[in-house]
Amino acid sequence: MAPWSALGMSWAMAMALARLLLALWLALAAAGGLEVEMAGRRQTVSLNKNITIICKVPGAPNLDIRTMGIRWFWKNQTSDLEKVFEFIGDHQEAIRPGATVSLWRLKRGDASLQLPAIQLREAGEYRCVVVVTPQKAEGRVWLEVIASPDSKLFWEQPTVNNKEEKHAVCKSSGFYPPNISIRWKKWIQKSAQYQEISENIFTERPVKNEDGTFNITSYLKLKLPVEDTGATYQCVIWHKSWPTSQKLNLTLPRGESEKTPYLLYLWILSIPVVGLILLPLYFVWKGRYRDRWTSGNETY
Ligand SMILES: *[C@@H]1O[C@H](CO)[C@@H](O)[C@H](O)[C@H]1NC(C)=O
Ligand SMILES: *[C@@H]1O[C@H](CO)[C@@H](O)[C@H](O)[C@H]1NC(C)=O
Ligand SMILES: *[C@@H]1O[C@H](CO)[C@@H](O)[C@H](O)[C@H]1NC(C)=O
Ligand SMILES: *[C@@H]1O[C@H](CO)[C@@H](O)[C@H](O)[C@H]1NC(C)=O
Ligand SMILES: *[C@@H]1O[C@H](CO)[C@@H](O)[C@H](O)[C@H]1NC(C)=O
Repeated sequence: MAPWSALGMSWAMAMALARLLLALWLALAAAGGLEVEMAGRRQTVSLNKNITIICKVPGAPNLDIRTMGIRWFWKNQTSDLEKVFEFIGDHQEAIRPGATVSLWRLKRGDASLQLPAIQLREAGEYRCVVVVTPQKAEGRVWLEVIASPDSKLFWEQPTVNNKEEKHAVCKSSGFYPPNISIRWKKWIQKSAQYQEISENIFTERPVKNEDGTFNITSYLKLKLPVEDTGATYQCVIWHKSWPTSQKLNLTLPRGESEKTPYLLYLWILSIPVVGLILLPLYFVWKGRYRDRWTSGNETY
């Protein structure tokens, strides 16, 4: 005969009592004996990804999850501690929508929290509190959410009628944190290398999007026609979400990097003009030549 039935309790009541004791233990017991391992002090994840915040009980190959309790908490620099997820005695509750702990993994001592589509506002400190009666452990990790910029480089005519100026536009969007570096380089044919450009650059302040990410636009202003033929310009973007900087190339269309089109137009225009001037001159010259020739004939 089971002890709870001797006390006249139902199975459901016994489970409820066990849950209550686990909950009390999760809340009140001091951590000790048991240990959990997190992903270090800081874990970095990407915006909108399904992520896993690591919390493992080392050396626990086979746990009885009915006598286990887990609570996950979150806070940031300004907010109070909030409960995100709870698992107590076979009963789980996701306060943060979609939050889960895999029970299959939990049996192997892995209490890692899965959060689908992580957002920037969810960055902060996460606490994993685990009870394996009668022991309790707590771990903390700082979750950093970052977003990589989506960048493009293209030409823009400042105004429709302005044929003397052209802008190379380097636009990065959807990045976080807002710290970003945009530099410009130009391919130098003589030295066969890129050289940093420092003049005629205008970089706007980053603008914030609704999801907390930022956009930035940088302009390189060029006076046409530029001296170099087929010049290549490069926009070099650095953001902490990448191990190295990203380089985008843009080549000035040949027609706009040389003076030929203007000269060509001049030449084409000059043909009838020159012709109109030369034609009467030709007749004048022809007349005089014939005069001189006939008079010469008379001398001999
Ligand atoms: C992320 O999780 C959601 C459900 O929570 C799922 O529909 C989606 O396919 C997952 N995405 C990836 C890339 O695993
Ligand atoms: C902390 O979280 C609250 C609630 O989500 C948010 O309003 C606040 O901006 C966050 N503070 C920081 C410093 O991220
Ligand atoms: C952002 O950049 C500024 C200056 O480049 C630097 O002082 C600051 O520490 C950076 N912030 C972060 C979060 O990297
Ligand atoms: C940021 O860039 C994206 C993509 O180009 C655009 O859809 C969005 O409107 C931009 N946001 C702002 C605030 O300009
Ligand atoms: C830009 O040019 C550099 C050097 O010519 C090259 O290494 C790089 O791959 C190019 N980038 C792209 C996006 O074509």
